[in-house]
Amino acid sequence: MSQFADVAHLMKGRTIARIVLDAATIARRVRELGAEIGAAYPDGDLLVLGLLKGSFIFLSDLVRQIPRPLQVDFLVASSYGHETISSGVVRLVYDPETTLEGKHILLVEDIIDSGRTLNRLVDLLGERRPKSLEICALLHKRLTTDLRLDAKFVGFDAPHEFLVGYGLDHAEDFRQLPFVASLAD
Ligand code: IMP
Ligand code: MG
Repeated sequence: MSQFADVAHLMKGRTIARIVLDAATIARRVRELGAEIGAAYPDGDLLVLGLLKGSFIFLSDLVRQIPRPLQVDFLVASSYGHETISSGVVRLVYDPETTLEGKHILLVEDIIDSGRTLNRLVDLLGERRPKSLEICALLHKRLTTDLRLDAKFVGFDAPHEFLVGYGLDHAEDFRQLPFVASLAD
């Protein structure tokens, strides 16, 4: 049975146009990223801050591949409603209670599209006086040159298509897919 046939019953009538990254490819790159991140932070407290909801699967795989002590927290910044186009409005729904001051903060994002979400967060988190602030994104569409802080760690450059799976949603659906795929119209 093909991967398409396997997941057809999860797709609520939508069709996968193409699998962009299969599960093995993602796992391999996540292992590499974990090693890179481990090597980049030799000392000091590291707080891995996951942007919900999109990063939840990536973050859980990633932290298990980072060979150094760390802590995990989450925040929610939502820039999309039930639309596939960025509204430009970024809402910070949950603010971590954890102290950021003096810690290395690694903000983990599923995908960088317009960069609006990150630009807003970088300003907000920078005010908390972390020891350092870096971004790790699973996917980067490379659409914007206007990032206040570009991602230091990137899993993959992403095609300019709407992607779902491995945490990424379309109107909250399809996050559970074990691969990243583009949706047919
Ligand atoms: P930005 O603020 O335009 O960079 O959008 C970032 C957020 O939009 C991501 O964290 C995702 O939640 C969402 N997003 C952007 N592109 C896609 C996509 O292709 N599929 C699913 N979600 C996306
Ligand atoms: Mg989303």
